[in-house]
Amino acid sequence: MNITIIGSGYVGLVTGACLSDAGHKVICVDKDKSKIANLSRGQIPIYEPGLETLVKKNIKEENLSFSSNIKSSLNASKIIFIAVGTPTSLEGDNADLSQIYSCAKEISESLRDESIIIVKSTVPVGTCDRIEEIISEKNPTKKFEVISNPEFLREGSAIRDFENPDRIVVGTSSKNAIESIKEIYKRQIKKEYPIIFTSRKSSELIKYASNSMLAMRIIFINEIADLCEKVGANVEDIANGIGLDKRIGPHFLNAGPGFGGSCFPKDARALIESGEEFKAPQNLLKAVIDGNERRKLNLGDRILEVIGENKKVGILGVTFKANTDDMREAPSLSIIPKLLKKNINVSIYDPEANKENINEFYGAEWKDDAYSVAKNSDCLIILTEWNEFKELDLKKIKDIMTRPIIVDFRNIFSLKEMEDLNFEYHSVGRNTINTK
Ligand SMILES: NC(=O)c1ccc[n+]([C@@H]2O[C@H](COP(=O)([O-])OP(=O)(O)OC[C@H]3O[C@@H](n4cnc5c(N)ncnc54)[C@H](O)[C@@H]3O)[C@@H](O)[C@H]2O)c1
Repeated sequence: MNITIIGSGYVGLVTGACLSDAGHKVICVDKDKSKIANLSRGQIPIYEPGLETLVKKNIKEENLSFSSNIKSSLNASKIIFIAVGTPTSLEGDNADLSQIYSCAKEISESLRDESIIIVKSTVPVGTCDRIEEIISEKNPTKKFEVISNPEFLREGSAIRDFENPDRIVVGTSSKNAIESIKEIYKRQIKKEYPIIFTSRKSSELIKYASNSMLAMRIIFINEIADLCEKVGANVEDIANGIGLDKRIGPHFLNAGPGFGGSCFPKDARALIESGEEFKAPQNLLKAVIDGNERRKLNLGDRILEVIGENKKVGILGVTFKANTDDMREAPSLSIIPKLLKKNINVSIYDPEANKENINEFYGAEWKDDAYSVAKNSDCLIILTEWNEFKELDLKKIKDIMTRPIIVDFRNIFSLKEMEDLNFEYHSVGRNTINTK
């Protein structure tokens, strides 16, 4: 099938690479011309394992191409994915849909008859209806479908998730659109991954409910971890104990610094806004967002309590999770400024963080490896669970630090290991080892 994907960020690019690999002819479009120029040369603007190889392969096989010309791209295909951003609006907590609506207007100007517009971006309930209205105003006689098909991939394992989804969700009642979707996802359907056909509104809501449920689990286990610290219990044992209950399951029960990233915070906020708009308040979610914000701010205080002021601190990891370069709403953006304000000398290492435009870290020094960060520092702080941090030579780390203190917000080291090495070790929801 000929497919145009509008928006070539994390979701659009992965979708384009995977669908072209399945044999479709895909054009990925973006309004950012320099991004498109780089992509056409096989240069990937984001860190996502396996993506560069897949993109290069499919450019070579002439299944994948890139363009900043939406009009000519739409001339080439009747299947159009929308994968542009839907960030939190600058004015409030609702989703900023300006990229979506400008995309809808551009589509309306070059629409071919019988096109199928597939909304992959995460959009509040009712947005597909509005997209349909915008396109019909300009094309009252043309036949077209707008369908919802939210994406559930995770950064860091995006290709694996796209190719092996837990489910594909499709919101449409059109038989024609259902047939096209089955052809588009023929590879996933062949492998018998579940595909759910539902209404557009249900499909839009499934995505928000899904991310919000995961955010809730994270906040829940974090609050249990706080209690564990007070009473001397171990949150990992509790996660294991509750996770073995089949009704609960083991996933998303890792205590840590709170959730961040480009999806959970913004989607939870947008769902709260939808609840307000339709007078169905999402009270649980409001508590989740408040709890997460409080946690991120409190963590800076916890570090200060451990080390005192005017000290030298090394930070390992600033991305919101491992295996991505994405810094959007990362806990580090709240924690590091707090330390800098207290005149703490901060050095940072992250294997892949996108360092552009991070004003929050002004005054901190970026280093090229973990050992340079540890050298002469009073405290090492783990903010992201990169695998390379789990494999550090801890004896060497201890020798080059001024004081052997580790604050580990990802629980990547065992208490026993830290005790044997005589570190002062603070982790989340587990007993502190204090060797002072
Ligand atoms: N990042 C994730 O892990 C993830 C996972 C699932 C769903 N989503 C959802 O997918 C959507 C996209 O997210 P993302 O992280 O890929 O965003 P992104 O910011 O990485 O990419 C969006 C791209 O769209 C381009 N764009 C914006 N308006 C355009 C227009 N009119 N024409 C052409 N290009 C345009 C931008 O230049 C940018 O490159 C969001 O709604 C997000 O919530 C994201």
